[in-house]
Amino acid sequence: MAPKGHNVAVSNMKLERMLSMRGGKGEASYANNSQAQAQHARSMLHLLREALDGVQLELPEVPFVVVDLGCSCGGNTIYIVDVVIKHMIKRFEALGFEPPEFSAFFSDLPSNDFNTLFQLLPPLANYDGGISMEECLATDNHRPYFAAGVPGSFYRRLFPARSINVFYSAFSLHWLSQVPEGVLDKRSTAYNKGRVFIHGANESTAHAYRKQFQADLAGFLRARSVEMKRGGSMFLVCLGRTSVDPTDQGGAGLLFGTHFQDAWDDLVQESLISSEKRDSFNIPVYAPSLQDFKEVVEADGSFAIKKLEVFRGGSPLIVSQPDDSAEVGRALANICQTVAGVLVDAHIGGRLSEELFLRVERRATSHAKELIEQLQFFHIVASLSFA
Ligand SMILES: C[S@@+](CC[C@H](N)C(=O)[O-])C[C@H]1O[C@@H](n2cnc3c(N)ncnc32)[C@H](O)[C@@H]1O
Repeated sequence: MAPKGHNVAVSNMKLERMLSMRGGKGEASYANNSQAQAQHARSMLHLLREALDGVQLELPEVPFVVVDLGCSCGGNTIYIVDVVIKHMIKRFEALGFEPPEFSAFFSDLPSNDFNTLFQLLPPLANYDGGISMEECLATDNHRPYFAAGVPGSFYRRLFPARSINVFYSAFSLHWLSQVPEGVLDKRSTAYNKGRVFIHGANESTAHAYRKQFQADLAGFLRARSVEMKRGGSMFLVCLGRTSVDPTDQGGAGLLFGTHFQDAWDDLVQESLISSEKRDSFNIPVYAPSLQDFKEVVEADGSFAIKKLEVFRGGSPLIVSQPDDSAEVGRALANICQTVAGVLVDAHIGGRLSEELFLRVERRATSHAKELIEQLQFFHIVASLSFA
């Protein structure tokens, strides 16, 4: 994370060197702003379990390996890994097999706050004490798996060939590896003048975003096709959209294309930053359509699609009083700051970043009713196994 006040152009930096959700345990931290993702993930557990039912079981002496790609630093990843492993244990036991030992790899970019994540991990169950898997599962607050963190971009290789049984990734693959080519270049037709996101952009900008998403997803699939074991399974969830038009980004569009966009314009109008400064920042997120996603899986050819659908996730706004505009405004600003704050800090410095998010909050507060009614996330859910 860039130090407060340090001014770096996001455009020229490899995003994977700096992107992360807000770490720690503060008000705008991911650990405290990921309840919506938790709820959305829970609503898809039946699809996850269905995917796990398709995983081939191996001999008990071979460790079973689960990976969460884009795990971030909250409790969600620990919850999901637990669900996956408990489901697999049940499957082994139902067939009368002794369950194997389990390994879980928590993977994210190097700037992720792995320290906070590791501190949230329950202690390892005492395998040496000779307790059985049943006893281990009955012991609250113990994990029946070995854990490790793996830093690196999921758009490249992260694991040895044929070493992973289950890949899980949620709410991460809509993050592009970089701001698409041309989008920040004044000489390009894809230059996204006046905007900080694809939402409402011109056709050329939209094309650049779409191309970047598809190139990134292709890299992701190539890497996983080497790393996954035969008989393994991959369960992927990312922001998606229902519109065929990529400049209508749905929930992501409302999040980054309205009050967040207007807050950048406020900074320009108040002469706190130049318009060039605003135009040299773009959010590297793309919510694909089913078609965008499917084309890449089919072109790659390694994976069979077991399931591919757009799933209504619901609102990302978790508020106790939906009628309290101030609470809604703060919630929206917190979400934006949690996911994009690190990039904004790096682009305009910590002080101006605070100013920006104050304006997001103010604007969202005065549109609270609309936000409660209209802000909805849709997700692409994909369950893949080897073709
Ligand atoms: C919204 S969080 C999702 C966290 C978690 N999966 C959950 O369900 O709550 C998105 C995560 O994706 C990670 N991410 C984005 N691009 C990535 C990349 N290229 N490689 C690995 N992780 C990436 C971010 O660092 C961030 O932690």
